[in-house]
Amino acid sequence: MVIDAFDKVRELQAIIAAGKIENKEELEAFRIQFLGTKNIIKPLFGAIRDIPNERKKEYGQLVNAVKQSAEQKFEQISKQLNSKAANEVEQIDLTAPGETIELGSRHPVSLVLNQMIEIFDRLGFTIAEDSEIEDDWHNFTALNTPEDHPARDMQDTYYIMNDPSRLLRTHTSSVQSHVMMTQEPPIRIIAPGRVYRNETISARAHCQFHQVEGLYIAEKVSFADLRQTIYYFAKEMFGSTKIRMRPSFFPFTEPSAEVDVWWGCETETDKRITKGTGWLEILGCGMVDPAVLKNCGIDSEKYSGFAFGMGVERIAMLKYQIDDIRLLFENDVRFLRQFKKTAIF
Ligand code: PHE
Repeated sequence: MVIDAFDKVRELQAIIAAGKIENKEELEAFRIQFLGTKNIIKPLFGAIRDIPNERKKEYGQLVNAVKQSAEQKFEQISKQLNSKAANEVEQIDLTAPGETIELGSRHPVSLVLNQMIEIFDRLGFTIAEDSEIEDDWHNFTALNTPEDHPARDMQDTYYIMNDPSRLLRTHTSSVQSHVMMTQEPPIRIIAPGRVYRNETISARAHCQFHQVEGLYIAEKVSFADLRQTIYYFAKEMFGSTKIRMRPSFFPFTEPSAEVDVWWGCETETDKRITKGTGWLEILGCGMVDPAVLKNCGIDSEKYSGFAFGMGVERIAMLKYQIDDIRLLFENDVRFLRQFKKTAIF
């Protein structure tokens, strides 16, 4: 009986000494087995009851030694493992090449907008900007479109709730009103920016889009100057693409014209986009109505000017053969990735 108890303790001692611990998981298993709350050494202390008195001391010392050797082994191995981990950190190869960073792509609207800005910059146009929430006067009234004017129907407008005098600008012509009010001619600006119209969203139309509008006011500006500017732009933007000018109407220009670019009319997609005509309208323009100059405090006897306005999405669609305007607003990465290598700058 006594021999048995002593043997058991010695056996455990041997197990502790011989056991191999090579990683943190094994160390944790060791801790639970020999040092945890339900460790297997504990019952050996209880067994002291059955040891004859004259050997109790010897037995107690032996079990204590086992417990100590378990503790020492735990300490020693955990030190070893920690220093091993520290060495591994030091062994990182600092000369190894880094992971490559994936470059993003520019949005096609930004690509086209940048190109347009660059083309007009070459003609001496500078950029003007103003707010997207506009007052009625700058968006409409100053531009010869007073309240109840039927031309307001051309641009279905989002008004600010509870304040019908404020709206989301329907065109960046509102920026032109600001510029004419604050600058003396000669004025030569383009107004790029986001505009909003209450339109049903389809492949051709969206309720938000971007425009670039231009304004040139100086002495003796003629329609020929306007036409030449538009031709230059169309040539730079589309190469030798065919364009045409059609008489049109805008309240703020007289005479007015619309410019179309030839898209083609062969496939079903061509027909859907161009409403079966093959032409895609890209631009409205005209000579600034003298009434608009007067509204904005410019001497209409001395100065004349031209203005134009175009949709950036339309031009992006033409340039990249995109057949649905909605793709430009949905941010589908599969679509956007295609523009990765298209570097304009
Ligand atoms: N503002 C007009 C539009 O949004 C475009 C335009 C600008 C037409 C300037 C003529 C002159 O449709």
